[in-house]
Amino acid sequence: MDNTPIDYKRWFEAARFRVSTRKYFGAPEEGELERLSLLAKALEGDGIRLKVTEATPKLFSGFQSLAIKNVTHVALIIGKEDSPLNRIGYKGEALTLEATAMGLATCWMAGTFKQSEARKIAELEDGEKLFGLISLGKPSEPFKEIPDSERGRKPLEKLVQSEKGMSLADIEPWQNSALKCARIAPSSVNFQPWRFACTKGLICMVASGLFSKKAELDLGIAMLHIDLGTAVEGVHGSWGRDGDVWVFTKANA
Ligand SMILES: Cc1cc2nc3c(=O)[nH]c(=O)nc-3n(C[C@H](O)[C@H](O)[C@H](O)COP(=O)(O)O)c2cc1C
Repeated sequence: MDNTPIDYKRWFEAARFRVSTRKYFGAPEEGELERLSLLAKALEGDGIRLKVTEATPKLFSGFQSLAIKNVTHVALIIGKEDSPLNRIGYKGEALTLEATAMGLATCWMAGTFKQSEARKIAELEDGEKLFGLISLGKPSEPFKEIPDSERGRKPLEKLVQSEKGMSLADIEPWQNSALKCARIAPSSVNFQPWRFACTKGLICMVASGLFSKKAELDLGIAMLHIDLGTAVEGVHGSWGRDGDVWVFTKANA
């Protein structure tokens, strides 16, 4: 599977600034929407499409959306019943990070909008379903790097299963960069369902907990972050699967 991200330096930087935003202060500009639509087109594949469109007043009108304010635009995440969830996560996060790089605020959403209204706007074709959306808009102020203390993430020591591979102290710089970037990735209810193990030339990733099927989307988000963290260290590689384990193999390892 070729996972070379389209613009890894730009998105690696954006990952440090991205934070879920639920209150917006204006609509994206026309040029920004065009750029995101072009990227959405480039990301099409595996039955997955991202539709960048205007939000309707009804979309965020329910009780589940009380914390969501002034969303003017969304990217609807549409796929087929059998579209791989990890690819949905990977592509959605690519669009999210590009929006962040453009200075737009974003939030992945699976639940806090009216599903029936979103399906209507999505104009689903036969066999398609809606997997969620990404809200898009202007932030209240330009982004600053998010301090680690405000991220609410588990320490790397808890995410890395050193009994199954190298200890954190022994991993290579590209693996360190990849894991750090994966750690700050967004996940549903900040569950951070990913666990990692590193050996020479490899990063293995497995879903923690009971809901491993659902976690595949979050794992896909982390896969992009791993690709970004390795690419900025000049390392490229490819993803494969061994049972439940996703394996990133460094090229020429
Ligand atoms: C697949 C997915 C679904 C999510 N669904 C929602 C949602 O329905 N509503 C919401 O407010 N946030 C949602 N989030 C945002 C997460 O709560 C957020 O990413 C997580 O708490 C980490 O915070 P951060 O994104 O600010 O780093 C979702 C995130 C992901 C990745």
